[in-house]
Amino acid sequence: MVCRFLAACSILLFPLGALADEWPFLTLQTAPFLPPQVSVTKSGPTDPGYIFVGPRGNQEQGTAALIYDEDANLIYQGPQEVTANFKVQRLFNEDVITFWAGNMMTLGFGYGTVHILDNTYREIYTVSLQEDFVSPDAASRDSYIDLHESHVTDRNTLLVTAYNVTQHDLTPIGGRADDFMLDGMFYEIDIATNEIVFSWSILDHLEDIPLEESKQGWGDDVGTQDTPYDAYHINSVELMNDGYIISLRHYWSGYFIHNNGSVIWQLSGEKGAGDFEIDDNAEFSWQHDIRIYNETEEGFLMTLFNNANTPTNEVAATTGLDFNVDLVNRKVNTLRILNDMDDVIHSVSQGSYQLLSEESRHVVMGYGSIARVKEFDANNKEVLTVQFGDDNSVASYRGYKCQWKATPFWEPAVVVERTGPDSVRTHMSWNGATEYDSWAVYSSAYSDGSNPKFEAVVRRTGFEDSIELNGLPSGYIQVTARKGEIPLGTSPVTPTPQMEGN
Ligand SMILES: *[C@@H]1O[C@H](CO)[C@@H](O)[C@H](O)[C@H]1NC(C)=O
Ligand SMILES: *[C@@H]1O[C@H](CO)[C@@H](O)[C@H](O)[C@H]1NC(C)=O
Ligand SMILES: *[C@@H]1O[C@H](CO)[C@@H](O)[C@H](O)[C@H]1NC(C)=O
Repeated sequence: MVCRFLAACSILLFPLGALADEWPFLTLQTAPFLPPQVSVTKSGPTDPGYIFVGPRGNQEQGTAALIYDEDANLIYQGPQEVTANFKVQRLFNEDVITFWAGNMMTLGFGYGTVHILDNTYREIYTVSLQEDFVSPDAASRDSYIDLHESHVTDRNTLLVTAYNVTQHDLTPIGGRADDFMLDGMFYEIDIATNEIVFSWSILDHLEDIPLEESKQGWGDDVGTQDTPYDAYHINSVELMNDGYIISLRHYWSGYFIHNNGSVIWQLSGEKGAGDFEIDDNAEFSWQHDIRIYNETEEGFLMTLFNNANTPTNEVAATTGLDFNVDLVNRKVNTLRILNDMDDVIHSVSQGSYQLLSEESRHVVMGYGSIARVKEFDANNKEVLTVQFGDDNSVASYRGYKCQWKATPFWEPAVVVERTGPDSVRTHMSWNGATEYDSWAVYSSAYSDGSNPKFEAVVRRTGFEDSIELNGLPSGYIQVTARKGEIPLGTSPVTPTPQMEGN
């Protein structure tokens, strides 16, 4: 019998042995970070934007929300923590950064909060969920928002998933009457007030979503409180006109949940199942990230990340799929299939599908357990691949491309090292700043930086720049990040170190 517990374990976490991978990391003078040095290949025109990932499984100092540009430069590293869904979204008509951070359970879900930052990286909202949840280790948590979804709606609410451990009669699928399983839930939360405006639980709808239809097999090694059966695996929630569409990975299906709580239909990736007739290309399985566009009474467009694989079940290559869904005739037609034929991927867990713009029709996919992000053009041709770690040892739950302009509330960082009796090397960076293009470097004889002497202009070339300055036996250095001639931020005044032995 297949070991289901091991399979569940490997869905989101990797064995400790995988930590010592050979992937190169970026070491910096001005920050204690150790982010992966990404490799970028570009084979055609790309849309504007930065790459947003939240890798895990590598060095602790590189486990953080990370932004890179297409020249493989780090732009931003957030606090050292496990994150998910790191991206730019619109909230109250402003661009904001949103991400989940918290504890990831070995069973493949998490407990955490959703952080919302403005374009200075100040945290303007922290969304949390404090309901009566039961966890596998019976410990209580500050917030029970699961990692799988952090979607801001156009009504300024947040859609999140939640997993609850509960006892349930599993005798119909070969279990015991008092076995433990995971309920799949979702919440809509008002961001400004943190009030719950809608909540929904699959276990209240067993007649529409029967346990017997789960693709996640039952095994002898599941069913206790610390190894609950993961029948559903809810992993995305999207607003629809009269309700929500949710993705249940372990049912190979999206379900439309009406505002009144009723399950109205099931769109299955399996032919013959669910309420729609799907064409030959529309088959999908173990999917993530169902999104909806242009919804009318008659139908809508739907996109998803089709894993088609799990740690224990290989179906086909992982693809991005784009459907026209006809609600009147209950038919699904495939519009696009995204698959880089030169780099066919089998992603056993996680992943995302992002339509970059309705004009360019470029799509960015994050490949989850495969440490890559790819951009496809309107002809479904791969134009960009960014790799940030070794496959199946480093993962980012989702991966995005986002346009982002930020000027941090913190100061630029400067580190000065002595290289000779009257020469110093000055290193400078400004974590998260997107707008500066050069540095102005000043020296001063005074610890308050007064009476500054202009030393040099240094063009921005990456996350960190440096310059050697001569004729500086002692004194202080201060640097200013500039856009053209306009100063955007100034570092602290930093003493030049003395020669060793002085
Ligand atoms: C979680 O499950 C427990 C045990 O069945 C139950 O008492 C509790 O109400 C559930 N929590 C939520 C938020 O549904
Ligand atoms: C919810 O609304 C749908 C669509 O109008 C209807 O078919 C269903 O019966 C309603 N369910 C409940 C519980 O009222
Ligand atoms: C939605 O419809 C508009 C108008 O027809 C079209 O321009 C746009 O591309 C459509 N969106 C998608 C995702 O196809």
